Amino acid sequence: MVLADFLIATGAVLGFISLFKNVLTFARWLYAAFLRKPKDLRDYGSWAIVTGATDGIGKALVFELASKGLNLVLVGRNPSKLEATSMELRDRFGATTEVKTVVADLAKLSGEEIVAAIAGATEGIDVGLLVNNAGMGCPPEYFHEMDPELRESLLRVNVNAAVWVTKGVIDGMLKRKRGAILNMGSGSATYISAFPLLTLYVSTKAFLDTFSRSISLEYEGQGIDIQCQAPLFVSTKMTKMKSWYLFIPSAEIFSRASVRWIGYDRVCNPYWSHSVQVFMARTLDTITVWGLGCYAKWSRAQERSRR
Ligand SMILES: NC(=O)c1ccc[n+]([C@@H]2O[C@H](COP(=O)([O-])OP(=O)(O)OC[C@H]3O[C@@H](n4cnc5c(N)ncnc54)[C@H](OP(=O)(O)O)[C@@H]3O)[C@@H](O)[C@H]2O)c1
Repeated sequence: MVLADFLIATGAVLGFISLFKNVLTFARWLYAAFLRKPKDLRDYGSWAIVTGATDGIGKALVFELASKGLNLVLVGRNPSKLEATSMELRDRFGATTEVKTVVADLAKLSGEEIVAAIAGATEGIDVGLLVNNAGMGCPPEYFHEMDPELRESLLRVNVNAAVWVTKGVIDGMLKRKRGAILNMGSGSATYISAFPLLTLYVSTKAFLDTFSRSISLEYEGQGIDIQCQAPLFVSTKMTKMKSWYLFIPSAEIFSRASVRWIGYDRVCNPYWSHSVQVFMARTLDTITVWGLGCYAKWSRAQERSRR
C-alpha cells in the first residue's frame, strides 16, 4: 500500500513537471513568435552584408533589412541580377539606403579569395549584420549518382562560403564589440533526423547548425549574436514550390519573420507555421523520415523520366 501510494505520488509529480515544462515551452514560443519586440538592427551597425542576395529568401531579406534602415552589401555571382536588385532597392528606398555589390561566385573562389573580396567591399564601413544565406540545393539522388561538380559546388557554397565570409567580417565585429550573424540552415537538418536522397544537402545544413551553436558560445559576451535559422519549405526557385496557404510561405513573408528573430535564439525556426509543422514532424519522426524518403524517390523517378 505504502509502495503503491509512493509510486502514484511520484507519477503525479513527474507528470506535473512534464506538463509544466511543455506549457512553459509553448508560452515561450507564443511570446517569441508573436509578441517579442524585434531588435533594432542598427544597434549592431549601420550596414548588413547578405550573400545570395539576388533571388529567393536573400533578395526578400535585403528589402526587409533596408526597410529597417540598414545599408546593404549584396553578394552574388551574377552581375546583372546584382545590378537589378540594387536598382530595385534604390527605386524603393531612395537615398536613405546605400547599396554596394560584390560579384563573387562562391562555388569557384578559394577561402582566402572570399575573405579578400569581403574585406575589399567592407573596408571603412560599419558592418553590423552578416547573413550567410547563399545556398544551393540538389536533385534527389543516391549519393553515388551525384554529379561530382555539383557535389563540389554544394560543399563550397553551403559550407566553405559561410565559414570564410564569417572570417571576413568577424574581426571587425570583435573590434567594435557588436555584431550579429545569421546562418541560413534548414529544418530538414535541424529538426528531422534524416533525409535520404538529399544526404549531402541536409549534411551541409547540419554543419551550419553545429557551427552556429558552437561559435555563438565563443563570442557570447563580446557583443556578437550568432544564430542559425532553420526554415522548412519556402516558395523560391530552389524549391520550385508555389506558396501554399499558411504552410509554404513566400520569401517575403518568411523574411519578415526571419528579421524579427535576428539576435535572439542560437537556433530557431522563425516562421510560426513551420514551427507547428516541425512539432508534428518530430513527434512522428520515423513516419516523417519514411515519407520524405518516399517523396524523394518519387521525385527522382519523375526527374529521370523527363531526361
Ligand atoms: N527555400 C526553402 O524552402 C529553404 C528551406 C530551408 C533553407 N533554405 C536555405 O535558404 C537559403 C536561400 O535559399 P532560397 O530558397 O532563397 O534559394 P534561391 O532562390 O535558389 O536563392 C539562392 C541565392 O543564392 C545564390 N547563389 C547560389 N549559388 C551561388 C554561388 N555559387 N555564388 C554566389 N551566390 C550563389 C543565388 O544566386 P543566383 O540568383 O545567381 O541564382 C541566389 O541569390 C539557402 O541557404 C537554402 O539552403 C531554403
